[in-house]
Amino acid sequence: MEFTAKSGNPEKQRTACVVVGVFEPRRLSAAAERLDEVSGGFISNLIRRGDMEGKIGQTLLLHNAPNTLCDRVLLVGCGRERDLHDAQYRQIMTTTVTQLNDIGAMEAVCYLTELHVKGRDSHWNIRQAVEVMEDALYSFDNFKSKKDTTRRPLRKIVLTVNSRRNLADSEKAVAEGYAIAQGVKLTKDLGNMPGNICTPSYLAAQAQTLDKEYDNILSEVLNQDELEQLEMGSFLSVAKGSRQPPKLIVMNYRGGDAADKPVVFVGKGITFDAGGISLKPGAAMDEMKYDMCGAASVFGVMKAAAELKLPINVIGVVPACENLPDGAANKPGDIVTSMSGQTIEILNTDAEGRLVLCDALTYSERFKPEVVIDIATLTGACIVALGRHPSAVLGNHPPLVHDLENAGKSSGDRVWELPLWEEYQDQLKSPFADMANIGGRDAGTITAACFLSRFTKKFHWAHLDIAGTAWKSGEKKGGTGRPVPLLTQYLLDYCADK
Ligand code: BES
Ligand code: MN
Ligand code: ZN
Repeated sequence: MEFTAKSGNPEKQRTACVVVGVFEPRRLSAAAERLDEVSGGFISNLIRRGDMEGKIGQTLLLHNAPNTLCDRVLLVGCGRERDLHDAQYRQIMTTTVTQLNDIGAMEAVCYLTELHVKGRDSHWNIRQAVEVMEDALYSFDNFKSKKDTTRRPLRKIVLTVNSRRNLADSEKAVAEGYAIAQGVKLTKDLGNMPGNICTPSYLAAQAQTLDKEYDNILSEVLNQDELEQLEMGSFLSVAKGSRQPPKLIVMNYRGGDAADKPVVFVGKGITFDAGGISLKPGAAMDEMKYDMCGAASVFGVMKAAAELKLPINVIGVVPACENLPDGAANKPGDIVTSMSGQTIEILNTDAEGRLVLCDALTYSERFKPEVVIDIATLTGACIVALGRHPSAVLGNHPPLVHDLENAGKSSGDRVWELPLWEEYQDQLKSPFADMANIGGRDAGTITAACFLSRFTKKFHWAHLDIAGTAWKSGEKKGGTGRPVPLLTQYLLDYCADK
């Protein structure tokens, strides 16, 4: 879809459809009011008769509005004006774009970006509109032999701003929203891809694709023998149970000076997690194809950074392998030696994410990073603790956690901090090795982060557990593309501070 920003009067728009809002109860927004005036009460007459209350989700399509240049006017319910917060705004945009797509309008001018959302400005409104509309029109039909295509799909949306003065800023907002949406789409696509196609080698090929697509992304893939040379005993032990060779994927985006320290993202890339010998129960096991969503979000944020030509250096590191039961697989009680030299007793082979991440984190030391952020569908316990709204954040550097919290608030892709206190470290004691890979039933998300913290002493680090946010289960099953909006916002803020 093509998006542009513009300012101007609704009656002057020569377009297939002009979109304006109606608040509950039956109150016109400023743009609707304007159309009503020029058309001699065309809208207010209909509304008075009870055709539209203004509830969120309601729409009404009008033809032949007098004294306007558009083919149609779409009225969209906006709920009560004083209750217009982020969530309501997103719903309004979702309803709008689905309706526009259904009614066969190939282009539209949308005045809903001029609504006042509590605590937000027009930049936010425009950017969110682009992100939400792209999100709502997404579908994954790569594996459907018959695709259900819309006959006259929406091609172009003009988003309005109420003042010419804001136009330049709005164009920037469109560009940001569009770059984030492209990153989100890539992340969803990779997540939704089935495990038999999206293997570690497939992810490695994706990195090569990004390398070809963008001049300033350079990708490198380390194979099994190189991982052996690096002595990544922990990562390799997980890969042993699979017939797919492991890959350590490194993507290097160079937008800053050669001397600028990079931001490093490390993404868990388990392309299928059956649990290994500590086999998972069968119910919903298909969803463990999403266990590479941390990796997918690293691909997405690399793409968004390159699209936005951010003036910084960003590195993405993805340890990718499968976790399957096999005669050669890890067994409970096995002890492995990580790249850091620390030994690990594997008490549960299903706690494999930390085993691949720890070596990737140690590997990241070589980049002399400004910060390292890892992203992982790490623990089911995270969903128990926080549900599916925020991602969990834990880290060893409070300013970094704080920056992520702020990026979450402004992007709407939120995080919630859990404590990474020393006291929890005791749960990882092992009688035979330096640590165990699990910490018992209590505080599973925290003990997983405690495990990782033992490999991140040399840099500022934060961990995002996206187990509850990376995909949706049930009827609307599918990748969400989170936390690409969060991480891209973090990078935008990082550039602004620099
Ligand atoms: N990939 C899973 C975590 C997960 C499970 C994410 C369900 C989302 C939904 C991870 O590898 C795992 O299996 N973790 C175990 C850890 C436990 C053995 C300490 C878990 O959460 O049960
Ligand atoms: Mn697991
Ligand atoms: Zn896993």
